[in-house]
Amino acid sequence: MSEQKFQDDSVYDKYRWIDDLGGWRRTHHNNQLTAANLDETVCLMGWVQFRRDHGGLIFIDLRDREGLTQVVFSPEHNTEAHERAHAIRPEYVVAILGKVRPRPEGMANPNLVTGEVEIVVDDWKLLNTSETPPFPIEDRVEVSENLRLKYRFLDLRRPSLARNFVLRNKAAQSVRRYLDGLGFLEIETPVLTKSTPEGARDFLVPSRLNQGQFFALPQSPQLFKQMLMVAGMERYFQIVKCFRDEDLRADRQPEFTQIDIEMSFVDEQIVQDMAEGMVRTLFRETLNQELPDPFPRMTFADAMRDYGVDKPDVRFGLKLQDVSEVFKGSGFKVFAQASLVKLLRVPAGGQLSRKEIDDYTKFVEIYGSKGLAWIKVKEDGEWQSPIVKFFSEDEKARIAEISGVQPGDILFFQAGQVDIVNAALGNLRLKIGERFGLIEEGTFAPLWITDFPLLEWDEEDKRWVARHHPFTSAQPGQLETLTDNPGDALARAYDLVLNGHEIGGGSIRIHTPEMQQKMFAALGIDEEEARAKFGFLMDALKFGAPPHGGIAFGLDRLIMIMTGAKSIRDVIAFPKTQKATCMMTEAPSGVATKQLRELGIRLREKKEEE
Ligand code: AMO
Ligand code: AMP
Repeated sequence: MSEQKFQDDSVYDKYRWIDDLGGWRRTHHNNQLTAANLDETVCLMGWVQFRRDHGGLIFIDLRDREGLTQVVFSPEHNTEAHERAHAIRPEYVVAILGKVRPRPEGMANPNLVTGEVEIVVDDWKLLNTSETPPFPIEDRVEVSENLRLKYRFLDLRRPSLARNFVLRNKAAQSVRRYLDGLGFLEIETPVLTKSTPEGARDFLVPSRLNQGQFFALPQSPQLFKQMLMVAGMERYFQIVKCFRDEDLRADRQPEFTQIDIEMSFVDEQIVQDMAEGMVRTLFRETLNQELPDPFPRMTFADAMRDYGVDKPDVRFGLKLQDVSEVFKGSGFKVFAQASLVKLLRVPAGGQLSRKEIDDYTKFVEIYGSKGLAWIKVKEDGEWQSPIVKFFSEDEKARIAEISGVQPGDILFFQAGQVDIVNAALGNLRLKIGERFGLIEEGTFAPLWITDFPLLEWDEEDKRWVARHHPFTSAQPGQLETLTDNPGDALARAYDLVLNGHEIGGGSIRIHTPEMQQKMFAALGIDEEEARAKFGFLMDALKFGAPPHGGIAFGLDRLIMIMTGAKSIRDVIAFPKTQKATCMMTEAPSGVATKQLRELGIRLREKKEEE
């Protein structure tokens, strides 16, 4: 970027004027002009991406939301316009009027739609100047994400980022068209509401008029959409903000957007057919991609057995194998005493270095792993491993048989508690998939996960909690199980997984008060608590609630996957950091004592160490 001074600085000052549009109208965006437009007189507007002076000519790349066009100021063509152009700096806002001409021989840029042409300027206006931006507005950015988030309005000018929002808009419109076509009504639900348990912490909003009382921001519109079904709306959807105060990850934000859907008189298959149709239409209309019809399906139990996680990335193989049986009564106590022993065979994984294996060992510690055992099979068939000395010949033979291990491969082992073994190896599998380039970019593997357990054990609170939410039906005949073996009862719940991300989840709901009562009982919620928290639900179910069910998609996650973005932040205009703050507005922030007083709130003294 050319920042050198002019020979005559007064030119710069003299032309530091601001024009108004003066009736000029933009004729094209900066991604439109091609050889088909030669000799047309056009008017372009946008930001100056780049300026270079070349043998009397001044070139700029003019950027707008849609793309770049090369603009030339030529002293022969218009001396005055050229002279003024010396004042142009990066990110200045300009309007140019000029003629489309071919670029000189050999100067075409095949990477740009407009790469064959340039605009030679007849006249131009300076619409605004700009300070030197804190980072260059280019696709290759080397600056910290926090700086980019602070100047998000500049970051969003980057074409690669701007493109994500073009796609996001297209996607939202496609979804609206599809659902509208099927008779869904878009209905808004409150944002100031009562806590709905979806498993995360609530964001609370103090009430001024009702001191000491709080609204909660919705974790999802779950109960409102159920109320709309009781109200006879039959088919509802909403593209809606949801709020969850939980620990953040690459695919999680404290406020995010759901495509929230509910239908009456339906079973699982009807909801899933509708949802699949929506996702297939979306991919066809926005990415011109055909997805399988129907989507493949897998039970929760099979997913955990083969992939160790409930949202498997099935773009590549490398299934886990259960070898617990082999080590029953083994001399190797770590394996013999474990509730589960699984292995992951990596073909040609023998090339992994000790350092890489050590890094993987550290990585699985995140999931509670106490060690990562491995066996490399050398080309001569010899087994190289820190643990194989503990194995009997029979154990070795059975491992070889079950795993089908070949010379050049590596086997990784996890032994221990079921949850830890699955999480550790399931996530290691993903790392290995990346390391060995097994994941083909630009491919999409949707997958339904079905037959989820209804409940899960909350180790912290030492009680059963709903795995999806407490309004989800049990599968037929599972109610007895609910009392006898709560952990075994299956739910009428389903998730849609795409490339290893959970992009949607839903269920068939409980629609009778008796059943809802039983569910609350199984969760240890007594009648009094149920009334206090969900009185309106219990009332509504008494007045002819139709059978109903639905699903909600994470729009941000979906767009993240569709655009190939590495982080959900790249598809949200003004996202929060990992610490749930907004760098640009500096929210959250303190408030005036007067505001607190009006709310009847007094802050506790900060402790010394805080
Ligand atoms: P669930 O809690 O599964 O279901 O949420 C639905 C989908 O929302 C997305 N999602 C998120 N995306 C970004 N950041 C987050 N913090 C976040 N949390 C969830 C996921 C998820 O699949 N009311 C039920 C739906 C129903 O039963 O109809 C619900 O909210 O992609
Ligand atoms: P140790 O006997 O603890 O030195 O462990 C021997 C080998 O087994 C080392 O390579 C450890 O990383 C590995 N190991 C230890 N605990 C486990 C476990 N729970 N699962 C898998 N491998 C383990």
